[in-house]
Amino acid sequence: MRILVTGGAGFIGSAVVRQAVTDGHDVLNVDKLTYAACLENLSSVEEAPNYTFLKADICDADSMAAAFEGFQPDAVMHLAAESHVDRSIDGPGAFIETNITGTYTLLQAARAYWEKRGKPDNFRFHHISTDEVFGTLGAEGMFTEDTPYAPNSPYSASKAASDHLVRAWSETYGLPVVLSNCSNNYGPFHFPEKLIPVVILNALAGKPIPIYGNGENVRDWLYVEDHADALLTVLQRGELGRSYNIGGENEASNLELVKMICSILDELHLGTDPYADLITFVADRPGHDLRYAIDPTRIREELGWRPSVTLEQGLRKTVQWYLDNEVWWKALQSRIGVGERLGLKS
Ligand SMILES: NC(=O)c1ccc[n+]([C@@H]2O[C@H](COP(=O)([O-])OP(=O)(O)OC[C@H]3O[C@@H](n4cnc5c(N)ncnc54)[C@H](O)[C@@H]3O)[C@@H](O)[C@H]2O)c1
Repeated sequence: MRILVTGGAGFIGSAVVRQAVTDGHDVLNVDKLTYAACLENLSSVEEAPNYTFLKADICDADSMAAAFEGFQPDAVMHLAAESHVDRSIDGPGAFIETNITGTYTLLQAARAYWEKRGKPDNFRFHHISTDEVFGTLGAEGMFTEDTPYAPNSPYSASKAASDHLVRAWSETYGLPVVLSNCSNNYGPFHFPEKLIPVVILNALAGKPIPIYGNGENVRDWLYVEDHADALLTVLQRGELGRSYNIGGENEASNLELVKMICSILDELHLGTDPYADLITFVADRPGHDLRYAIDPTRIREELGWRPSVTLEQGLRKTVQWYLDNEVWWKALQSRIGVGERLGLKS
């Protein structure tokens, strides 16, 4: 399959590109290379004959039209986005621009290309989204594909808007789309501003490990390589027009998660004091959703997909990866905003 991937230099996009190239697909990675991008994530596949990189902005209609015409994809996997909730609180404009206008621009380019080729049935536009579009849960319940949208942050609102655009392009123009909404990802190449790398890297540096609020916020953690596998499954076998919730079946509160990472670090790395001594509670994020949990019944029963690792197994692999890849994360720590507390405006 010829797959045009947007955002392939980011955390999840690069996992998708690595897996798709390894599986033998022809991949064009379209990425603007924002602060969150890292082409080193793709060093294992950059020389592969079935991999090509194009530096371009999904908001640029001419570049997107040229990318479609030049590459002639069978499918699009759209991951390019501004993705950090804290940054969306301080500067929502970039989120509106890329996540909404960019998705609109990409949909129009895909539609023009698909119509010009005679509307082939086997074309796919796969939009990758988040469970955050559903808002927050209380102590009980899970998000299904039918849960009403109720986004609470500028990030999740912009992703919700993009999901609606994709649906509308399917209903109105017949564009063959599939959507997926997944829970929090973690794993190798996770940008050092996100919770799990912050915990690992602060612990290694002997710095306080910040936990927002009381640490009782619950997330359903999904190992990134499992997510990449699920996305390629949805792309190839998902039913047209349908959305799929993808979860890790691994719920944990932030405090439980951080304690797990600290005890893995205690085991794998020779520190003197327990790393959990560094845990420090800090001011909560405005609008911080209490709990996300995914009901993965549809993807499990219709597509036979399940995550391959437990949270404990995935965290162990992740911690070991950060211990082994200091050169990678050290280079990113000087990028703008990394290591600062962002998103306190309310
Ligand atoms: N990280 C998660 O836990 C998570 C969970 C659910 C859904 N998602 C979704 O998955 C997708 C990927 O997330 P991620 O964590 O890998 O994000 P990321 O921030 O690591 O990567 C985003 C990539 O998109 C690129 N990009 C940004 N704006 C662009 C533009 N205008 N044109 C072209 N490229 C642009 C960036 O350069 C970067 O390489 C996003 O759509 C996100 O909403 C992420």
